[in-house]
Amino acid sequence: MKYLEELEQSALDRDIPIMQRAGLEELIGELIKRQSSSVLEIGSAVGYSALMMVNNVDHLTVETIERDDERYREAYQNIHDYHQEERIIVHHDDALLMDTATLKAAPYDCLFIDAAKAQYQKFFEKYIPYVKKDGFVFVDNLDFHGMIYDIDHIRNRNTRALVRKIKRFRDWIKNNDLYNVEYREIGDGICIITRKDFE
Ligand SMILES: C[S@@+](CC[C@H](N)C(=O)[O-])C[C@H]1O[C@@H](n2cnc3c(N)ncnc32)[C@H](O)[C@@H]1O
Repeated sequence: MKYLEELEQSALDRDIPIMQRAGLEELIGELIKRQSSSVLEIGSAVGYSALMMVNNVDHLTVETIERDDERYREAYQNIHDYHQEERIIVHHDDALLMDTATLKAAPYDCLFIDAAKAQYQKFFEKYIPYVKKDGFVFVDNLDFHGMIYDIDHIRNRNTRALVRKIKRFRDWIKNNDLYNVEYREIGDGICIITRKDFE
């Protein structure tokens, strides 16, 4: 466990975005509660959340995708150093371009979206067919540091455009007939999406 705390600290020290503890604990709790055995994660960074998941959920395997060269290399090394190659598969690819035929463990119990925030809907639409019907989707950063509630006062134009895109995803999924969406004000705002016809 110490190792993962060091990894967390090292990522934070280098401004590598990793999931906040509270959000990650919520995800882990949900995986345990639902007895999940497989996760597809979009956005590995250096492998911290994937390692935390397999470290805390018995029999879980994680398949994770990272497009950045340096982060992918570090994730691969960390997974190896922690002897979790059997339980974590890491792909070096852009999830929006990746050939889904290369996915190894589909269908998954959980899709965890934690990559480019402006693309949430695209990730969702591309990967939802690979989630089991009774599975769930977990999305992080939906409050964007609280800015989502006060978009007009965001001064930076790029940030405002990004937050608008996050809000668009929130509204789109909320108004979608197929899915139930549950928001929780945990970490940076998370949501859990499940199919309505599998309650
Ligand atoms: C917030 S970080 C992931 C943090 C990680 N889940 C954790 O908590 O340890 C987001 C990562 O997604 C990656 N990313 C962004 N867009 C991507 C894409 N289209 N395909 C794959 N990875 C992407 C970024 O390079 C970045 O490393």
